[in-house]
Amino acid sequence: MSDKSLLSAIAANIAPSPTLAVDSKAKELKAKGEDVCGFGAGEPDFDTPEFIKEACIQALHDGHTKYAPAPGIMPLREALAEKYRLENGLTDVQPSQVIVSPGGKYSCYLAILAVTGPGDEVIVPAPYWVSYPEMVKMAGAKPVTIFAGQEDDFKVSPEQIEAAITDKTKLLILNSPSNPTGAVYKPEEIEKIVELALKRDLLIMSDEIYEYLLYDGVEHVSPASFSKEAADHVITVSGFSKTFSMTGWRLGTLVAPSPIAKAVASIQSQTSSNATTFAQYGALAAMQQPEKSSEAIHEMLGHFDRRRMKLLGGLNSIEGITCARAQGAFYLFPNMSSFGLDGNEFAKQLLEDQKVAVVPGEGFGAPGYMRLSYATSDEVIEKGLSRLEDFCKSI
Ligand SMILES: Cc1ncc(COP(=O)(O)O)c(C=O)c1O
Repeated sequence: MSDKSLLSAIAANIAPSPTLAVDSKAKELKAKGEDVCGFGAGEPDFDTPEFIKEACIQALHDGHTKYAPAPGIMPLREALAEKYRLENGLTDVQPSQVIVSPGGKYSCYLAILAVTGPGDEVIVPAPYWVSYPEMVKMAGAKPVTIFAGQEDDFKVSPEQIEAAITDKTKLLILNSPSNPTGAVYKPEEIEKIVELALKRDLLIMSDEIYEYLLYDGVEHVSPASFSKEAADHVITVSGFSKTFSMTGWRLGTLVAPSPIAKAVASIQSQTSSNATTFAQYGALAAMQQPEKSSEAIHEMLGHFDRRRMKLLGGLNSIEGITCARAQGAFYLFPNMSSFGLDGNEFAKQLLEDQKVAVVPGEGFGAPGYMRLSYATSDEVIEKGLSRLEDFCKSI
């Protein structure tokens, strides 16, 4: 069979995740004994808090080793509904509207699949998380990107969104705090976007997976919190990976208006069946022991904030690089367009010459930029900055 007939049109058109590719290349070099400074990883470098692991181990001992209900175990859905009511201002949310999935990534895909299809357009603000456009394409819909660079704090305006709306537009994707830029929309900015979505009858998928990773005292606000009407137009997705260092557990969440939540549960029941049963008991412990959870998050945030400032200062001191002070997530997104190198080439040479792994902006819809994750040790940050400087001088 030729390649063309072997693969479906959708499969042939999907790009592999560039962030995972950089990470695995860096890990491969490390395994060969190379001293690699990896800034590619999108995961906290801390272990999952012990009390969460213990709860999962207990669940295994208690025999929670069978299929779970497709939308998730009820105590976890109840705890999540309460969290969204109390912390995020989604005042009417019921456990039936909450779905637990195998990862935030899968929650995004379920949301997109549930509400979009052939003939629909989805507005994706760039720089975007690499997976959104590919997921939209896998659903058969068309991603329409709009761009906001460093000069706009990487945040799109309601005017830009409005200009991109057509009679085919069904969904707008928001991600605050953002991967890859770390940008955080202000409550009043979110409110204006929600107003526009309601006026033009658009759905919003709000990816809030970094909602706890905030610095400089900025605030996170959920688009669904503004009114009952807003809640009826928003699918809120999130997960346990980033907040609780649980990337390998594969646990995502989704909160949606009832008809969408039902459809999502059906899709999940016909695809993954359910998120791993005993893993859900670990997540339940995280929800039921808020003091221990906030202690763990607080400690992690302290480390991230210190590293953020170290990396930011270091990047801005390199001639030719400018970097905005991101206030969320654990990424910085410097501009290195002054070197005139294609981002993929820049990252490739940097890895080959100096053993420093970064993710080129191209995969995020932002040529001229690169993403550096500071979910790595202070030592790697210091060494990596000095190597990056040497590399920039050598260009
Ligand atoms: C913006 C964003 N959404 C969702 C995810 C998915 O995370 P996970 O599937 O590990 O829960 C990620 C992970 O990198 C992300 O950066």
